[in-house]
Amino acid sequence: METRSRIRRQMRQRRNALTPEQQQQAAARLAQHLPPLLQQHHYRHIALYHATDGELDTAPLIHALWQQGIKTYLPILHPFCAGHLLFLHYDAHTPMGKNRFGIAEPQLDVRQVQPVHQLDAILTPLVAFDTQGNRLGMGGGFYDRTLSAENAPPAMGLAHSCQQVESLPIADWDMPLHAIITPDTIHLCR
Ligand SMILES: Nc1ncnc2c1ncn2[C@@H]1O[C@H](COP(=O)(O)OP(=O)(O)OP(=O)(O)O)[C@@H](O)[C@H]1O
Ligand SMILES: [Mg+2]
Repeated sequence: METRSRIRRQMRQRRNALTPEQQQQAAARLAQHLPPLLQQHHYRHIALYHATDGELDTAPLIHALWQQGIKTYLPILHPFCAGHLLFLHYDAHTPMGKNRFGIAEPQLDVRQVQPVHQLDAILTPLVAFDTQGNRLGMGGGFYDRTLSAENAPPAMGLAHSCQQVESLPIADWDMPLHAIITPDTIHLCR
């Protein structure tokens, strides 16, 4: 457990040390190479995240997906089920707010909720990954709970390549990813 927090600290430092130019170029490369892969799988409904804390920025990717008619969804903290996420449809007109972690999220509107089993893929943020598909997040267990649901769609982690470690110490409840996508590489894991 001590190791997990040490890895978290180190990897958050690394990604926050990337310059705005490096972040911008990484996001642009992601937006170029990922959409063809998603198209290939005929994904129409994709959950992703709004970047914070040096995470790989998804804004250019989201715009590329919209241009291809793919619908995008963002997580919000579940209003009464602690530790769980809800996924809301997100487009250019979605009213946004901030959750208790200071992360931007769509304002709760039940008409926009998409059940997890009606998503084709979930693109998760992460703090550290290994090429076995193991994921270390921010420590809330939110994605582990989401991905352990029956009928949860395939999950792919998005990360800078500097977030890769040789091998992560994994806990019983950690849900592995099907793939890890960096600005330059696709690691297929399962
Ligand atoms: N399916 C689950 N049901 C109940 N508790 C869970 C489940 N998955 C994880 N947890 C709890 O969540 C806590 C945090 O888990 P973990 O350290 O793996 O977070 P993480 O994967 O880094 O976070 P996140 O997914 O939010 O980025 C752990 O204490 C664990 O017991
Ligand atoms: Mg976990």
